[in-house]
Amino acid sequence: MGFEEMWAALLPVGRDPAGGGYRRFTWTPPELECRAWFLDEARVRGFDVERDRNGNLVAWWYPDGADRSAEGVLTGSHLDSVPGGGAYDGPLGVVSAFAAIDLLRERGVRPSRPIGVGAFAEEEGARFGVACLGSRLLTGTIDPGRARRLTDADGRTFADVAAENGLDPDAIGPDEEILGRIGCYVELHVEQGRALTEPVGVASSIVPHGRWRFDFAGEGNHAGTTRITDRHDPMLPFAIMVIAARQAAERHGALATVGKVRVTPGGVNAIPSHVAAWLDGRGPVDDAVRRTVADISEDARVAAGAHGVTLDVAEESYTEVVGLDLDLRDRVVKALGGAPVLPTGAGHDAGILASRLPTAMLFVRNPTGVSHAPSEHAELDDCLAGVEALATVLKDLAGG
Ligand code: GLV
Ligand code: MN
Ligand code: MN
Repeated sequence: MGFEEMWAALLPVGRDPAGGGYRRFTWTPPELECRAWFLDEARVRGFDVERDRNGNLVAWWYPDGADRSAEGVLTGSHLDSVPGGGAYDGPLGVVSAFAAIDLLRERGVRPSRPIGVGAFAEEEGARFGVACLGSRLLTGTIDPGRARRLTDADGRTFADVAAENGLDPDAIGPDEEILGRIGCYVELHVEQGRALTEPVGVASSIVPHGRWRFDFAGEGNHAGTTRITDRHDPMLPFAIMVIAARQAAERHGALATVGKVRVTPGGVNAIPSHVAAWLDGRGPVDDAVRRTVADISEDARVAAGAHGVTLDVAEESYTEVVGLDLDLRDRVVKALGGAPVLPTGAGHDAGILASRLPTAMLFVRNPTGVSHAPSEHAELDDCLAGVEALATVLKDLAGG
């Protein structure tokens, strides 16, 4: 199957018929359908498939005559989505990986090293809260005990849901055997801003980013009978925290977003007892992010105190700036005969794997720059240019 057929097969999976984008949360039916699609694509090509102990999928092509024990070149991305996401974030890298290998095979290229296609689990952290959970577990950058205890919106633990999906929750965690078989990782991804004006670019770095949970606990009560002076309404310090986030980000040249909030109990005619809000903070340097989050936390704490509300702030994840491997980046740019090099404000498994392996990223132009939203888009010609570029890079790295 060519790129377009594979793309068309995935397109309807998990798409909101009313135009609200994709919802492919880890191990929910649409994401399982994407995994089944991945396994089929691997099977028809005769690849060796392994699902690691952490729910990540890898399909290996062992070209005839290749040294099966040589460190392989891994490419791929992820199949899960944010709520209301676009079609390209993740799947473009996986579909392009299969399509690029197809090009090499059609052209009779016989790499001397294995080439793998990976689909990492829970990259968006949309179900269990920690982004890049599969690659964090694989590389040992999250404690498996903490991962087991993560819960989804229904309060189900990662351990329980993983077990239901055939994993042994006690066996999750770093896997040196798999890591030892990967020489380098090259992830192709749709560009998520407007910085790329050519069809294909190469990543330089991933900016620092993290997630923080703010829990405001007040007192639930009647909306019509509770006097203003008697209220302990957690919605008010929450509202101040949202404004504080914008102001602190502007002050420190960073970005701060509150995109998820859970109000308990959520009645129109009841003062809430609890508001949980999640802050996404990013910036050009660690210090800008740290100062932004510190200022927001302080403003929220003062506001909570003024309203008789308690506040708890917890860091759920933080990834420092990741400079992708310079030698690998130079080699990729050279193989492409030159390409624009740009940083990204989005998180990626390549950034997590970079702690253990040389990693590189290719970006495909996004004409509007919209991402994590239904209108995320890349033109077909640019996607095909991405496939060509990935094939060129894989051939160079795997020794064709
Ligand atoms: C993932 O795409 C992220 O940047 O949060
Ligand atoms: Mn994303
Ligand atoms: Mn992504």
